[in-house]
Amino acid sequence: MCNYSKVFIKMKEIIDKSMDIDALECIRVKFFGKKGYFAKQIKLIKDSPLEDKKKIGFIINNAKKEIYEHLINHKNFLENNIIHNDINNDFFDISLPGRYKEYGSLHPITYAIFHIGNFFEKIGFSYVSGSEIENDYYNFDSLNIPINHPARSCKDTFRFDKCRLLRTQTTSIQMRVMRKIPPPMRIFSCGKVYRRDNDKIHSPMFHQIEGFAIDINIKFSHLKQLCYDFIYNFFDRKIEMRFRPSYFPFTEPSAEIDIKEDGNWLEVLGCGMIHPNILKKANINPDIYSGFAFGAGVERLVMLRYKIPDLRIFFDNDIRFLKQFRL
Ligand code: DAH
Repeated sequence: MCNYSKVFIKMKEIIDKSMDIDALECIRVKFFGKKGYFAKQIKLIKDSPLEDKKKIGFIINNAKKEIYEHLINHKNFLENNIIHNDINNDFFDISLPGRYKEYGSLHPITYAIFHIGNFFEKIGFSYVSGSEIENDYYNFDSLNIPINHPARSCKDTFRFDKCRLLRTQTTSIQMRVMRKIPPPMRIFSCGKVYRRDNDKIHSPMFHQIEGFAIDINIKFSHLKQLCYDFIYNFFDRKIEMRFRPSYFPFTEPSAEIDIKEDGNWLEVLGCGMIHPNILKKANINPDIYSGFAFGAGVERLVMLRYKIPDLRIFFDNDIRFLKQFRL
């Protein structure tokens, strides 16, 4: 039987001498690994004389436990040392501001579209999306816009060819929907429209909302009340507003809504009773059904709501502007 106690003392010394965690890990493998010292010793027991077997087994197992504990203690000691050194050596400035995540925000136009959509959904309007690429029929002809109307020329409209164009108004959804859905209906839509315009208050692309309702007995007074409710809701206050007679080929009578801001009347929305010709074109009997329609530019509404003087700022993606709308 070899002199185990000397070996075990030596092992503890080796552990104590190791000064870093990696070295200690190598020692652990050498002593306690599958092919390590203790595994070998345990294998050797079977070759020992019978009377020693029990004793050697006892000694080896006890020492294994004890030395393993010694190793773990030393490991803890080294780890504590590392933490301690890190704290002592690193300058930690507790006055520094904490790290925080910057949260994004919705674009003010997106926010306004959600807000407006919510309003109309709550009062029973269903959302319908339309196509940005339209043909002359749905964008103009179906809406009573005559063939020689200036809006139809290439000067005002982005055209692909003779009959395909980028829609100039979301009113283009009207005929498609009316032909698909039988009355009664309350429809709301919103999306991008395109016109050849570019200045402080016009951009070649902007967003429009469009809504209409068709039922028996729909009157101008329904439209009027809805417009009041919508404008008060959007501006979040009882803003001064007026209905001014106007003209749109697809409504009769037609009106525009102006709101009063700093003493000036500013136009925000077009509306009217759907022209009987349009109902007829959609195979809806105008003697039974009537309807109202309205449309407005979202950018314009948002500009007035937040007193934004230049529309182009919506498209600049300047984070200083956009993050003010974290609502
Ligand atoms: N489409 C019109 C425009 O682009 C807005 C409009 C006016 C829509 C009157 C309507 C309406 O539905 O009845 O200026």
